[in-house]
Amino acid sequence: MSGPVAPDGGNLVNGVVPLEARASLRQRAGRLPGLPLDARSRADLLLLATGAYSPLSGFMGEADYRRVVTEMRLASGHPWSLPITLSVNGEQGSALRAGREVALPGEGGDPLGILEVAEVYPYDREEEAREVFRTADPAHPGVAALYRQGEWLVGGRVTLLDDPCDPPGPFLRYPAETRRAIQERGWQTVVGFQTRNPVHRAHEYLQKCALEMVDGLLLHPLVGETKEDDIPAPVRLACYQVLLEGYYPKDRVLLGLLPAAMRYAGPREAVFHALVRKNYGCTHFIVGRDHAGVGNYYGSYDAHHIFAAFGPGEMGIIPIFFEHAFYCRRCGGMATAKTCPHGQAEHVALSGTRVREMLARVELPPPEYTRPEVAQVLIQWASEEGYQRYAI
Ligand code: ADX
Repeated sequence: MSGPVAPDGGNLVNGVVPLEARASLRQRAGRLPGLPLDARSRADLLLLATGAYSPLSGFMGEADYRRVVTEMRLASGHPWSLPITLSVNGEQGSALRAGREVALPGEGGDPLGILEVAEVYPYDREEEAREVFRTADPAHPGVAALYRQGEWLVGGRVTLLDDPCDPPGPFLRYPAETRRAIQERGWQTVVGFQTRNPVHRAHEYLQKCALEMVDGLLLHPLVGETKEDDIPAPVRLACYQVLLEGYYPKDRVLLGLLPAAMRYAGPREAVFHALVRKNYGCTHFIVGRDHAGVGNYYGSYDAHHIFAAFGPGEMGIIPIFFEHAFYCRRCGGMATAKTCPHGQAEHVALSGTRVREMLARVELPPPEYTRPEVAQVLIQWASEEGYQRYAI
């Protein structure tokens, strides 16, 4: 296995059908009943088959699901914090039989994968909301998505009929290729950085503080489904490209993508993000303030405290925790309460909502918040809706 750290469960799951078997399996899949997938489940299929969710090799069965919801562990006892499930409605559920296969169509309708149905089981959406999201409030975007799900879950192993890394895209997307890139660079320690927002100075500060202690940085923006008002992934990637060009040593950073959907599950998602980044080859993972949070559902540091649920070494990846970072005018640089003695009046810290409001007014975010090159990309997008030209 390439890279300095073993994937969850020891081996990277590989559910990608080998080239020589693809044509016949596609034909077989064409004759199977199909189960439509939404964008999140399509992304989960790709991530399951490429080992990003190792040791999971398919959508969760009931034993894994129940223990994950109540205890943040798979049935085996292995740490795992979010359900990876496929829901169906009553009619679809009653047509499914354990032991049979169903085709999983891609966006265009052609079969993308095959699911070997192992079980179909009922579940309690409100219980899942309370345990996983710590709220049953339908205004929470993750809870709202859960409440839109069908009333049954289908568990079973998946196979992918395409190789998503062929042809290779401009960015690393899947664990095996990312691990190879890490190995080629000879890094023994790699810190992963999750983000769903345009990069700003606090992000850069966290990344560079961590990079002082490890060999390499895997910048790993999440590019799957996000909520409506989050800034589109192609724009965020353009921000990263200008930042990397001017301010990061090329031989210390890899830019990869995580195709997963955002769940907004705060602390539970921080654990999930860390486990997945281990599968991508990271030895360390950055967890800052209100990681994967939304609104006021989580305390600023709940996503730090949750890691105490696991014993030392149990997760196989080391979280690096950061407090709220801001620009301090008196210090003349980025700081946190751990390093800055000055009062809040000296601090520049804008919320994502505030920045989106500024962009809506086509107002440039200040240089203390984000670098001018990044602000330029954002303002150009905001003024011309010019993001179509930023292809992923
Ligand atoms: S997230 O949903 O992916 O967590 P975001 O892209 O804003 O949102 O954050 C990426 C990472 O940076 C997370 O670990 C988050 O906790 C951290 N972070 C973002 N802003 C700050 C900040 N000002 N201070 C400390 N950590 C931050």
